[in-house]
Amino acid sequence: MKPSLLVTRRVFPEVLQALAPHYELEANQDDAIWPRAEFVARASGKDALFVVASDAIDRDLLATVPKLRIVATGSVGYNHVDVAACRERGIIVSNTPDVLTEATADFGWALLMATARRVTESERWLREGQWNRWAWDQFLGADVHGATLGIVGMGRIGSAIARRARGFGMRLLYTNRSPAANESELGATRVALEELLGQADFVLLVLPYSKQTHHTIGEAELARMKPTACLINLARGGIVDDAALARTLAAGRIAAAGLDVYENEPKVDPALLACSNVVLTPHIASATRSSRLGMAMLAADNLIAFATGRPLPTPVA
Ligand code: DGY
Repeated sequence: MKPSLLVTRRVFPEVLQALAPHYELEANQDDAIWPRAEFVARASGKDALFVVASDAIDRDLLATVPKLRIVATGSVGYNHVDVAACRERGIIVSNTPDVLTEATADFGWALLMATARRVTESERWLREGQWNRWAWDQFLGADVHGATLGIVGMGRIGSAIARRARGFGMRLLYTNRSPAANESELGATRVALEELLGQADFVLLVLPYSKQTHHTIGEAELARMKPTACLINLARGGIVDDAALARTLAAGRIAAAGLDVYENEPKVDPALLACSNVVLTPHIASATRSSRLGMAMLAADNLIAFATGRPLPTPVA
C-alpha cells in the first residue's frame, strides 16, 4: 500500500504526476486557503505533507498527526516548521535550497533598483495622469553604482547578490555569524550590524528568520541608518518591525524601502501602504517558472526518495 500525502497548495501538474506513482495523493486542486481546522483534519492520518511557507507545522498540529513521517516544504526557509518537535517524533523535514538562489538574487536587484530609482512611485504618478512636463528634479533617486551595499546574512542568496554588486562597482559590507568563505573573491568586508547600518547606502536583508532574528531591524536600527539610505527585505516578515519601518518612512528618516515579505502576510500594515517611498511586492522573489518548478520538483524528489527508501536530497540539517 502506498503512503498517503497531503499537498496543501495547487502545484504544477508535472509535480503531481511525479508523485502519483509513489503516494495516495490528496491535493488542493483549486488552491483554496483551508481554515486551520480544515488543514488539521485533512492532515490527520497522512504519512507525508507537502507544504509551503504559509503552513505552520507546529506542536499543536504534530499532536494530531501520529502517522506523519515526512514534511517536505516547497521553500528554502523553514521557520514555519518546528524542526525540533518533528525530530522528537522521528519526522524528517526537507526544504529546497539552491534551486531558487539565482532567481531570488536577480529579484533582490530588481527590488533594490526599483527602490533606488523610484520606479513604482513614478509609474503610479504617470498612470494617474500627473505627468505634464519634464523637470530637472522629477523623481530624483539614489545612485546605485559606486554606493555601499550592506548585506545582512551572507548565505547562498547573499553571496549571489554580492557577486552581482561587483558589476555596479559597489563597496560591499556584510554581517554573518561566520566569515564568508568567498569573502576576498567578493571583495566584501564583514562588520558588525551597527557599523553596516551606519555606512550602507543600501541595507539588504537575506538572513533566515528565527526567534533570534525577530525584529533584527527595529526602531533603534532604523535610527542608525543614513537618512539617504534604502532598506530592502527579501528574507522573511518579522525580521523587520513593520510598524517601526512605516513610522520611519513616513517621517522621511530614511529615503525608501523595498519589501517582498511582511510580518502578517498576506496582510500588509496599512501604515506601510500609506507610504509613497516604499516598493511593495507580494513575496515573489523566487517567482520565475524555472525557479518555482525547481522548488516544487525538489520537494517532490525528497518525498519520492522517502517513499522509495533512498536518502533525501535536501533534508534540513
Ligand atoms: C522560500 O523559499 O523560503 C521563499 O520565501 C518562498 O516561500
